[in-house]
Amino acid sequence: EDEENMSPRPPVVTVMGHVDHGKTKLLDAIRSSNVAARESGGITQHIGAYQTKVEHEGEERAITFLDTPGHEAFTAMRARGAKSTDVAILVVAADDGVMPQTIEALNHAQAADVPIVVAVNKVDKEGANPQKVMQQLTEYNLVAEEYGGETMFVPISALKREGIDQLLEAVLLTADAALVLQANPDKDARGIAIEAKLDKGRGAVATVLVESGTLRQGDAIVCGTAHGRVRAMFDENGEQLSEAGPSRPVQVLGLSSVPRAGDSFLVTSDDRTARQIAEKRDAVERAAQQARGRKRISLEDFT
Ligand code: GTP
Ligand code: NA
Ligand code: MG
Repeated sequence: EDEENMSPRPPVVTVMGHVDHGKTKLLDAIRSSNVAARESGGITQHIGAYQTKVEHEGEERAITFLDTPGHEAFTAMRARGAKSTDVAILVVAADDGVMPQTIEALNHAQAADVPIVVAVNKVDKEGANPQKVMQQLTEYNLVAEEYGGETMFVPISALKREGIDQLLEAVLLTADAALVLQANPDKDARGIAIEAKLDKGRGAVATVLVESGTLRQGDAIVCGTAHGRVRAMFDENGEQLSEAGPSRPVQVLGLSSVPRAGDSFLVTSDDRTARQIAEKRDAVERAAQQARGRKRISLEDFT
């Protein structure tokens, strides 16, 4: 990367945790407390990722959240060795405590070297025991500041929308302490697909996260084995954008087919190059699939 053009970028945050511990509720609470976003856009739509703005130490800061389907993308990205998440929020219900998927999630984050903020959720419930959650997680090297560690634990109620500001504060403090979040906005965009679908009227609709550079309407792009030109871009409020900089999630129209969550994308000099890269990737994937198929058959032959 060209160091001269490095600029600060918002942290990208994934919410993880055991089933029913309140990931979706938390994302809803964060999003709905972001009044500005709600008012500017009118009808909000689900695009798998959004950006929220918070006041932090007298400054307005943005945070990008990958929505629950982003969980899948996170796993796919890890499998590809990419690292698009800067901070993980580990949601643990204070009544249930640590559960199998809590451990799975924290293993994922720790393996990817992603700092974790623990949201101890459902503190409004009878039987909630936040202290127990802290004790349990000590075993997994998540030691609360109260116990001499470095992990921030924030008690919240996603249902009652309590503790949300403190949680966002903890996310920014953790990001700032652990990472230098910079990207060069002055080059062709690169990033990953968060989710994608086929829409009857609009064709392939992909939500992508720009990791570096700036994506512009009209850019030729290749995303996984899909290619095309950015016909239009929208933010999470349905507002059309002409460009999207680092850490910005956007919905992109104009791809030839539907990419997969976790597919990387890049801008190319022209359509033809984009198509050629897509075709090459497609051929490599087919060959790999065939090789896997042969392996399976030969394995069965020998057993
Ligand atoms: P999956 O996506 O299925 O893994 O679940 P999730 O982690 O997204 O949990 P979700 O947000 O769907 O919440 C599960 C249940 O817990 C719902 O009934 C929520 O209303 C409830 N819930 C979430 N947060 C709170 C909370 O802070 N307090 C209470 N009392 N209930 C909550
Ligand atoms: Na649920
Ligand atoms: Mg959910």
